Amino acid sequence: MSEQWQTLRDGFLPDGFLWGASTSPHQTEGNNTGSDWWRMEHRSGGRLQLSGDAVDSYHRYEEDMRLLADAGLGAYRFGVEWARVEPVPGEFSRAALAHYRRMIDTARRLGLEPVVTLHHFSSPAWFADEGGWTGPTAVPRFTRYVEEVCAILGDVAWVVTVNEPNILALMAGHAKAMEEGYEVDLGADVRMPAPDTGIGERLVEAHRAAVAVVRARTSAKVGWSVAQQSLVPAPGAEAAARCTELRYAWEDLYHHAARDDDFLGVQSYTSQTVDEHGVVPHPEHPDNTLTGWAYRPDALGIALRDAWAATEGRVPLLVTENGIATADDTRRIAYTSEALRHLYAAVAEGVDVRGYLHWSALDNYEWGHWEPTFGLIGVDRETFTRTPKPSLGWLGGVARRGGGLVG
Ligand code: BGC
Repeated sequence: MSEQWQTLRDGFLPDGFLWGASTSPHQTEGNNTGSDWWRMEHRSGGRLQLSGDAVDSYHRYEEDMRLLADAGLGAYRFGVEWARVEPVPGEFSRAALAHYRRMIDTARRLGLEPVVTLHHFSSPAWFADEGGWTGPTAVPRFTRYVEEVCAILGDVAWVVTVNEPNILALMAGHAKAMEEGYEVDLGADVRMPAPDTGIGERLVEAHRAAVAVVRARTSAKVGWSVAQQSLVPAPGAEAAARCTELRYAWEDLYHHAARDDDFLGVQSYTSQTVDEHGVVPHPEHPDNTLTGWAYRPDALGIALRDAWAATEGRVPLLVTENGIATADDTRRIAYTSEALRHLYAAVAEGVDVRGYLHWSALDNYEWGHWEPTFGLIGVDRETFTRTPKPSLGWLGGVARRGGGLVG
């Protein structure tokens, strides 16, 4: 790719372009004991590693934010944990809400724009017992929770209702299958079934209800974030037809539901080919990342263009996640720098991108595993000491230069 993005012209990116990093509550806070994920980890018979104290960000969030701000970043995406805010159906914890309000205030004080997620994979265990997202109470329960959280979101500018509803639909489908006694393999090397569109439609309903509440009670821009698959058809008409069909189930259902939102969160890590049998598993390759995914920094450009086309070019995009699981921080910088070149190329074509939030701020709990490390900051899990990696300083430098990749 051309060197034209090494130093960006003023005004190339929109005013107020957000440069930052993302986390989620269950992956960082620790001791999320009231959640369905905590329960699942403990019932998994060792199949899932435990989140435990996670990286204790429930207590150390100020230190986390300060490291990002000191490096030069200007935004932090974090989430509110439903299981803490509503530990028992209908009983809301004022103390938990005050905690998240302190996080918002702390971010502001440090010069970070808070981007707040209302649901990031984990739900209260009682919600799962009521049938979860497929249960009869799902939408009213979620809406009621969102109403309560809005009390602390008055001045927040960016709210994400649901993180990756497409992956949530996939997980809910798997949970249902496991209850019915089927073995579920989530490995990067298997042909995964597409997310259940029935569950997806229920999530669309929940999202729409949440958007209405957030709009009525706050002045925030509201949207949701989709796990972009960057699916590319193999040659041939059959593969092309299969790709269109799978793209609907994997992401367009969720893109279409975002057409009247204030923004769409784009989350991108890798890209996959589709042949006539479906999505082709990541081929084994020495460059594959610690999650077994193909090393594809170009996926971000594909993701942005796909999301822009599926929302008919009328919804601004915010990269709410992009990153790589690697133990080698030099690779993280190389991956991110290449991904940003693809982002700039999409912007040059006219795609409206409002920010870039890297996943993740910290090495955190990767949903059942600790080994895949996505962080700009390393964490000692005994002492919780934070150690910024060179990639944090590097990304902060990019932010300070308004996107310029070299000084
Ligand atoms: C999720 C994160 C996750 C990341 C890397 C996204 O699916 O939103 O919670 O850690 O990707 O797998």
